[in-house]
Amino acid sequence: MASEAVDRLTGLKQEMETREARIGIVGMGYVGLPLSLLFSAERLRVTGFDIAADKVATLNEGGSYIVRIEPDQIRAAQQAGFRATTDYSEIAQMDAVIICVPTPLNEYQEPDLSYVIGTVQSIAPFVHEGQLIVLESTTYPGTTEEVVVPLLEAGNRSQLRVSRALDEPGIHVAFSPEREDPGNDTVARHDIPKVVGGCGPAATELAAEMYGAIFRSVVRVSTPAVAEMTKLLENIYRCVNIALVNELKRLCMRMGIDIHEVIDAAKTKPFGFQAFYPGPGLGGHCIPIDPFYLSWKAREFDFRTRFIELAGEVNGEMPYFVLECIADALNDHSKSIRGAKILVLGLAYKRDIDDLRESPSLTIIELLRAKGATVAYNDPYFPTVGRGRHYDLNMRSTPLDDLAGYDAVVIVTDHSAYDYEAIVAQSKLVVDTRNATKGIDRTNIVRC
Ligand SMILES: NC(=O)c1ccc[n+]([C@@H]2O[C@H](COP(=O)([O-])OP(=O)(O)OC[C@H]3O[C@@H](n4cnc5c(N)ncnc54)[C@H](O)[C@@H]3O)[C@@H](O)[C@H]2O)c1
Repeated sequence: MASEAVDRLTGLKQEMETREARIGIVGMGYVGLPLSLLFSAERLRVTGFDIAADKVATLNEGGSYIVRIEPDQIRAAQQAGFRATTDYSEIAQMDAVIICVPTPLNEYQEPDLSYVIGTVQSIAPFVHEGQLIVLESTTYPGTTEEVVVPLLEAGNRSQLRVSRALDEPGIHVAFSPEREDPGNDTVARHDIPKVVGGCGPAATELAAEMYGAIFRSVVRVSTPAVAEMTKLLENIYRCVNIALVNELKRLCMRMGIDIHEVIDAAKTKPFGFQAFYPGPGLGGHCIPIDPFYLSWKAREFDFRTRFIELAGEVNGEMPYFVLECIADALNDHSKSIRGAKILVLGLAYKRDIDDLRESPSLTIIELLRAKGATVAYNDPYFPTVGRGRHYDLNMRSTPLDDLAGYDAVVIVTDHSAYDYEAIVAQSKLVVDTRNATKGIDRTNIVRC
């Protein structure tokens, strides 16, 4: 029996049952912190590792820096033993370590694995026999085997190797993709099946055992590369389908057809169709980025991922399309963008979240400013916005008390806190990129 052999290798299974296991989670961000809370809710002791000393201090003081995580939840986790640290030497005390650090693209749109590499190099000196190391950061197929394993084997102090067979001692290494959908409350986190693929059967079993404590179902796959590719397939599927509806929206607008009415009708089909919705462009850490991890890797195999490139092109054009729509709408009011006062509603990349990474709002604001508009924004989740990897805005959220003072109000993020009836009633012109004004019948709305 695989599980009996695994029991002999390490006490992790028993420690999970007795709640004595110690779990280290590296990267206390949007993925790592909620994951820590899930384990803590099951009374497992979690140590959160991060290089950001301010985050570590906030967590240890019982505070939170992610809007949808309440300080109460951090304090409840602390009762179960949760604490945070910047000290990697504590990795030695962990039974399992889960890595949740960023995997962005560099300036050439190529994978930037520097965070993963930096993390693995930092933990390698402290890994020990029988320890489970799981990478959760989204990445191209091959990263676990080609990047993580060699660094762990070269960097540990006891010449440990990665275990490849049952009964073979060593470090157990696996990949397990994160599948969180921020802001989506329709599926509880523990109901999202967890995919795991280990470098050996013991790693797969151990990872399944660990995640089994917090997820109702664990899906075992044969290798880390299958697990890595699974995550990319999921995200590419979204990216391509969003591009499809974005393109069809532009056609429908020309044809005088409401794409949202079309999608609502199509989704009544009980099989073979899943609804995706058009918008002002892609945002977030995943959908605009992850597909390019695969297209980069594909080149090593002399292969071009044309769907990914086409979807990237169509989705990447959407903020420019929004700019055109704003220009046309102002033109109909005998106005130009130059000199216009424009209010952008919503900075976050999607509704009701406090994440603006890759948000199309940022691009739209920069495009409007470059054309000579005076731009203000409102977002209940971002009182201010400064400088990021791809933007430099230095702005403050403006109250919604003088909507009539703007030449156009542009809905880029459809936060549910907004009263759209009131916004439309008080504004001269509303450009709606999200169908947030559905059902409101006023001539000052331009839907795009
Ligand atoms: N945010 C999501 O919804 C989501 C969903 C699925 C998958 N993912 C993937 O999960 C991974 C993490 O994403 P995220 O959104 O949590 O990122 P994030 O930026 O919110 O958090 C990453 C954290 O890692 C820390 N960090 C960076 N380098 C470190 C190091 N060397 N050692 C310790 N900590 C370090 C940062 O300080 C930060 O707190 C990415 O690969 C992402 O693609 C994210």
